[in-house]
Amino acid sequence: MNNADSSSILERLSALSDETRTRILALLDGSEFTVSELCAVLQTPQPTVSRHLKMLALEGWVQARTEGRKRHYHLSPQLDDSTRSLWRIVHNEVSESSLYRADAERAQPVLDERRMRATAFFSESAAEWDRARAELFGSATGLGPLLGLIDPTWVVGDLGCGTGALTARVTPFARRTIGVDRSAAMLSTAQARLSEMDTAELRCGELESLPIEDEELDLAILALVLHYIVDPRAVLSEVMRTLAPGGRVLVLDMRRHDRGVTFSKNMGHVWPGFDFEQLEAWLTDVRFSSIRFQALTPDPDASGPLLFLASARA
Ligand SMILES: C[S@@+](CC[C@H](N)C(=O)[O-])C[C@H]1O[C@@H](n2cnc3c(N)ncnc32)[C@H](O)[C@@H]1O
Repeated sequence: MNNADSSSILERLSALSDETRTRILALLDGSEFTVSELCAVLQTPQPTVSRHLKMLALEGWVQARTEGRKRHYHLSPQLDDSTRSLWRIVHNEVSESSLYRADAERAQPVLDERRMRATAFFSESAAEWDRARAELFGSATGLGPLLGLIDPTWVVGDLGCGTGALTARVTPFARRTIGVDRSAAMLSTAQARLSEMDTAELRCGELESLPIEDEELDLAILALVLHYIVDPRAVLSEVMRTLAPGGRVLVLDMRRHDRGVTFSKNMGHVWPGFDFEQLEAWLTDVRFSSIRFQALTPDPDASGPLLFLASARA
């Protein structure tokens, strides 16, 4: 190790040597928080939290995005491998201590409130979702001729299947499909749509604890759902559990956009789309490989943000 390497690792260690900073990092590892949310969870005055956030941002540990008048902080997806490993070691050591568990408990209502907004939207909008989806995102979300790449021996999970539009399109190509959603209203529309398809099954459940056996799936599709997930890395880790070795995950979602405030208010979105670095960091963290990210050609009739397709192997 040369001098430059050793001094930078020592700088990183000094950032981690303060308990408030590691508590902040533990909260920002997976989910986003504003300064005022961090102050409430950490029970620490705003100037102190802001000072630590400033230092963490200067040293590249955290990043912020501005939405309306608020800044939302998250762990930087650009941490290099050694910094990420260093953080994992520290995080594993501290996360079970009572102080960090109490932070996680106080953070829960903040995160639950975000989940509730999405849940409320879908329980009221099941009847309108198919039209909204077509208006916002156009035809690309049906995956078109790409469905022909599905092997007829595969079991495919459509996770966050909503009204089952994509489940219905996938089913003729696969051995079996399993649609999972938490919304009874969305599932009841999906049930009607899939009633004639014997190889399609619907299961009610959370993406955070999927009602799917270990290694049951060959392909897991997350279509327009990841932006509703408070802790996407935890869900990707759960998806990994359900995939057979060599199985694939396919994520269809919005590229990072600037309409976050509107979509959060009107439709309960948690994330304003994603950029590749962010998604790649989460997928790598939970040990997916062969990660690919492709921006989709915009549909001229769609009024919503641009889309991407990402794939990775278990
Ligand atoms: C925008 S809709 C997309 C539905 C479908 N994938 C599509 O492309 O039309 C998102 C769906 O994910 C479901 N959902 C969101 N968060 C979830 C979670 N944590 N667990 C299970 N379902 C979830 C919602 O109930 C909703 O039906």
